[in-house]
Amino acid sequence: MTMTALERAHRSTAKYSTAQTRVIAVANQKGGVGKTDLTVNLSCQFAAAGKKVLLIDMDPQANATDYLVSPETPIERSTADLLIDDSVSLQDILIKECRENLDVAPADGDLSACQIRLANDINMQFKLKKKLKEMKEEGDYDYVLIDTPPSLGILTVNTLTAATEVLIPVQTQYFAMDGVVQLLETVRKVREDINPELSVMGAVLTMYDRRTILSREVASRVRHEFNEGRVYTTVIPVNVRLAEAPSYHKSIFEYDSGCNGAKAYDALAQEILSCRED
Ligand SMILES: Nc1ncnc2c1ncn2[C@@H]1O[C@H](COP(=O)(O)OP(=O)(O)O)[C@@H](O)[C@H]1O
Ligand SMILES: [Mg+2]
Repeated sequence: MTMTALERAHRSTAKYSTAQTRVIAVANQKGGVGKTDLTVNLSCQFAAAGKKVLLIDMDPQANATDYLVSPETPIERSTADLLIDDSVSLQDILIKECRENLDVAPADGDLSACQIRLANDINMQFKLKKKLKEMKEEGDYDYVLIDTPPSLGILTVNTLTAATEVLIPVQTQYFAMDGVVQLLETVRKVREDINPELSVMGAVLTMYDRRTILSREVASRVRHEFNEGRVYTTVIPVNVRLAEAPSYHKSIFEYDSGCNGAKAYDALAQEILSCRED
């Protein structure tokens, strides 16, 4: 796409402002670092705190959708339809009140094919942003959280283009920072070329094992090396209850509200909500 086309496309979507709604992309192109877990449980905890929340699933694996939506609930249309079909709005695909205060825009496997279809579209980066802008005129959310796939392809770029902030889960293991550098580079490019409002909200250390020296060492290294946004004080521990909850289609608070994983997500949600009020 030429710069002129980019500029023109940006101008047409620029009215979508960050005024109230925080649009948070949860991204890290490494798989298995806790993106989906973070997106789902933070969404649920923000909703429980009385915020109006929309979770958008942009991963063809649809893990966030599977996590929260029971298999009996039919998914007629998904984010794939949203991106491909100009006549489909976010309202059309929503699973409303999936939980109190929480709507879900579900994904399905069609999102994989959708990437190929989008590749020839001059406005391919702006699809999600445009749909969010249209929806904003109808109803308002306090938080929109977007789960992303483990790649820096068009689905992640669509998400970064639509977002006001990026939240990066970093798995507390030896190669923790692998990929984070490329992600930050992509964020910088998106900010420069397409979405000047995009900021790095921070990093969250996930799957922290307090019994190991390695976890402690990695955590302090990430805190030292991560130089955009904050590294949240709250860490998400390795917790078997967190690994079990998705198969019951329950958030960690519904599944076992007393476990360490639930306590950590509660603390993280409070930390994020209070940072905003700093
Ligand atoms: N803190 C945790 N402790 C234990 N298991 C976890 C934790 N966070 C996520 N998991 C599990 O690890 C796997 C990968 O997490 P997931 O959130 O799906 O990562 P991603 O979305 O980055 O691929 C999933 O099976 C999930 O249930
Ligand atoms: Mg995932």
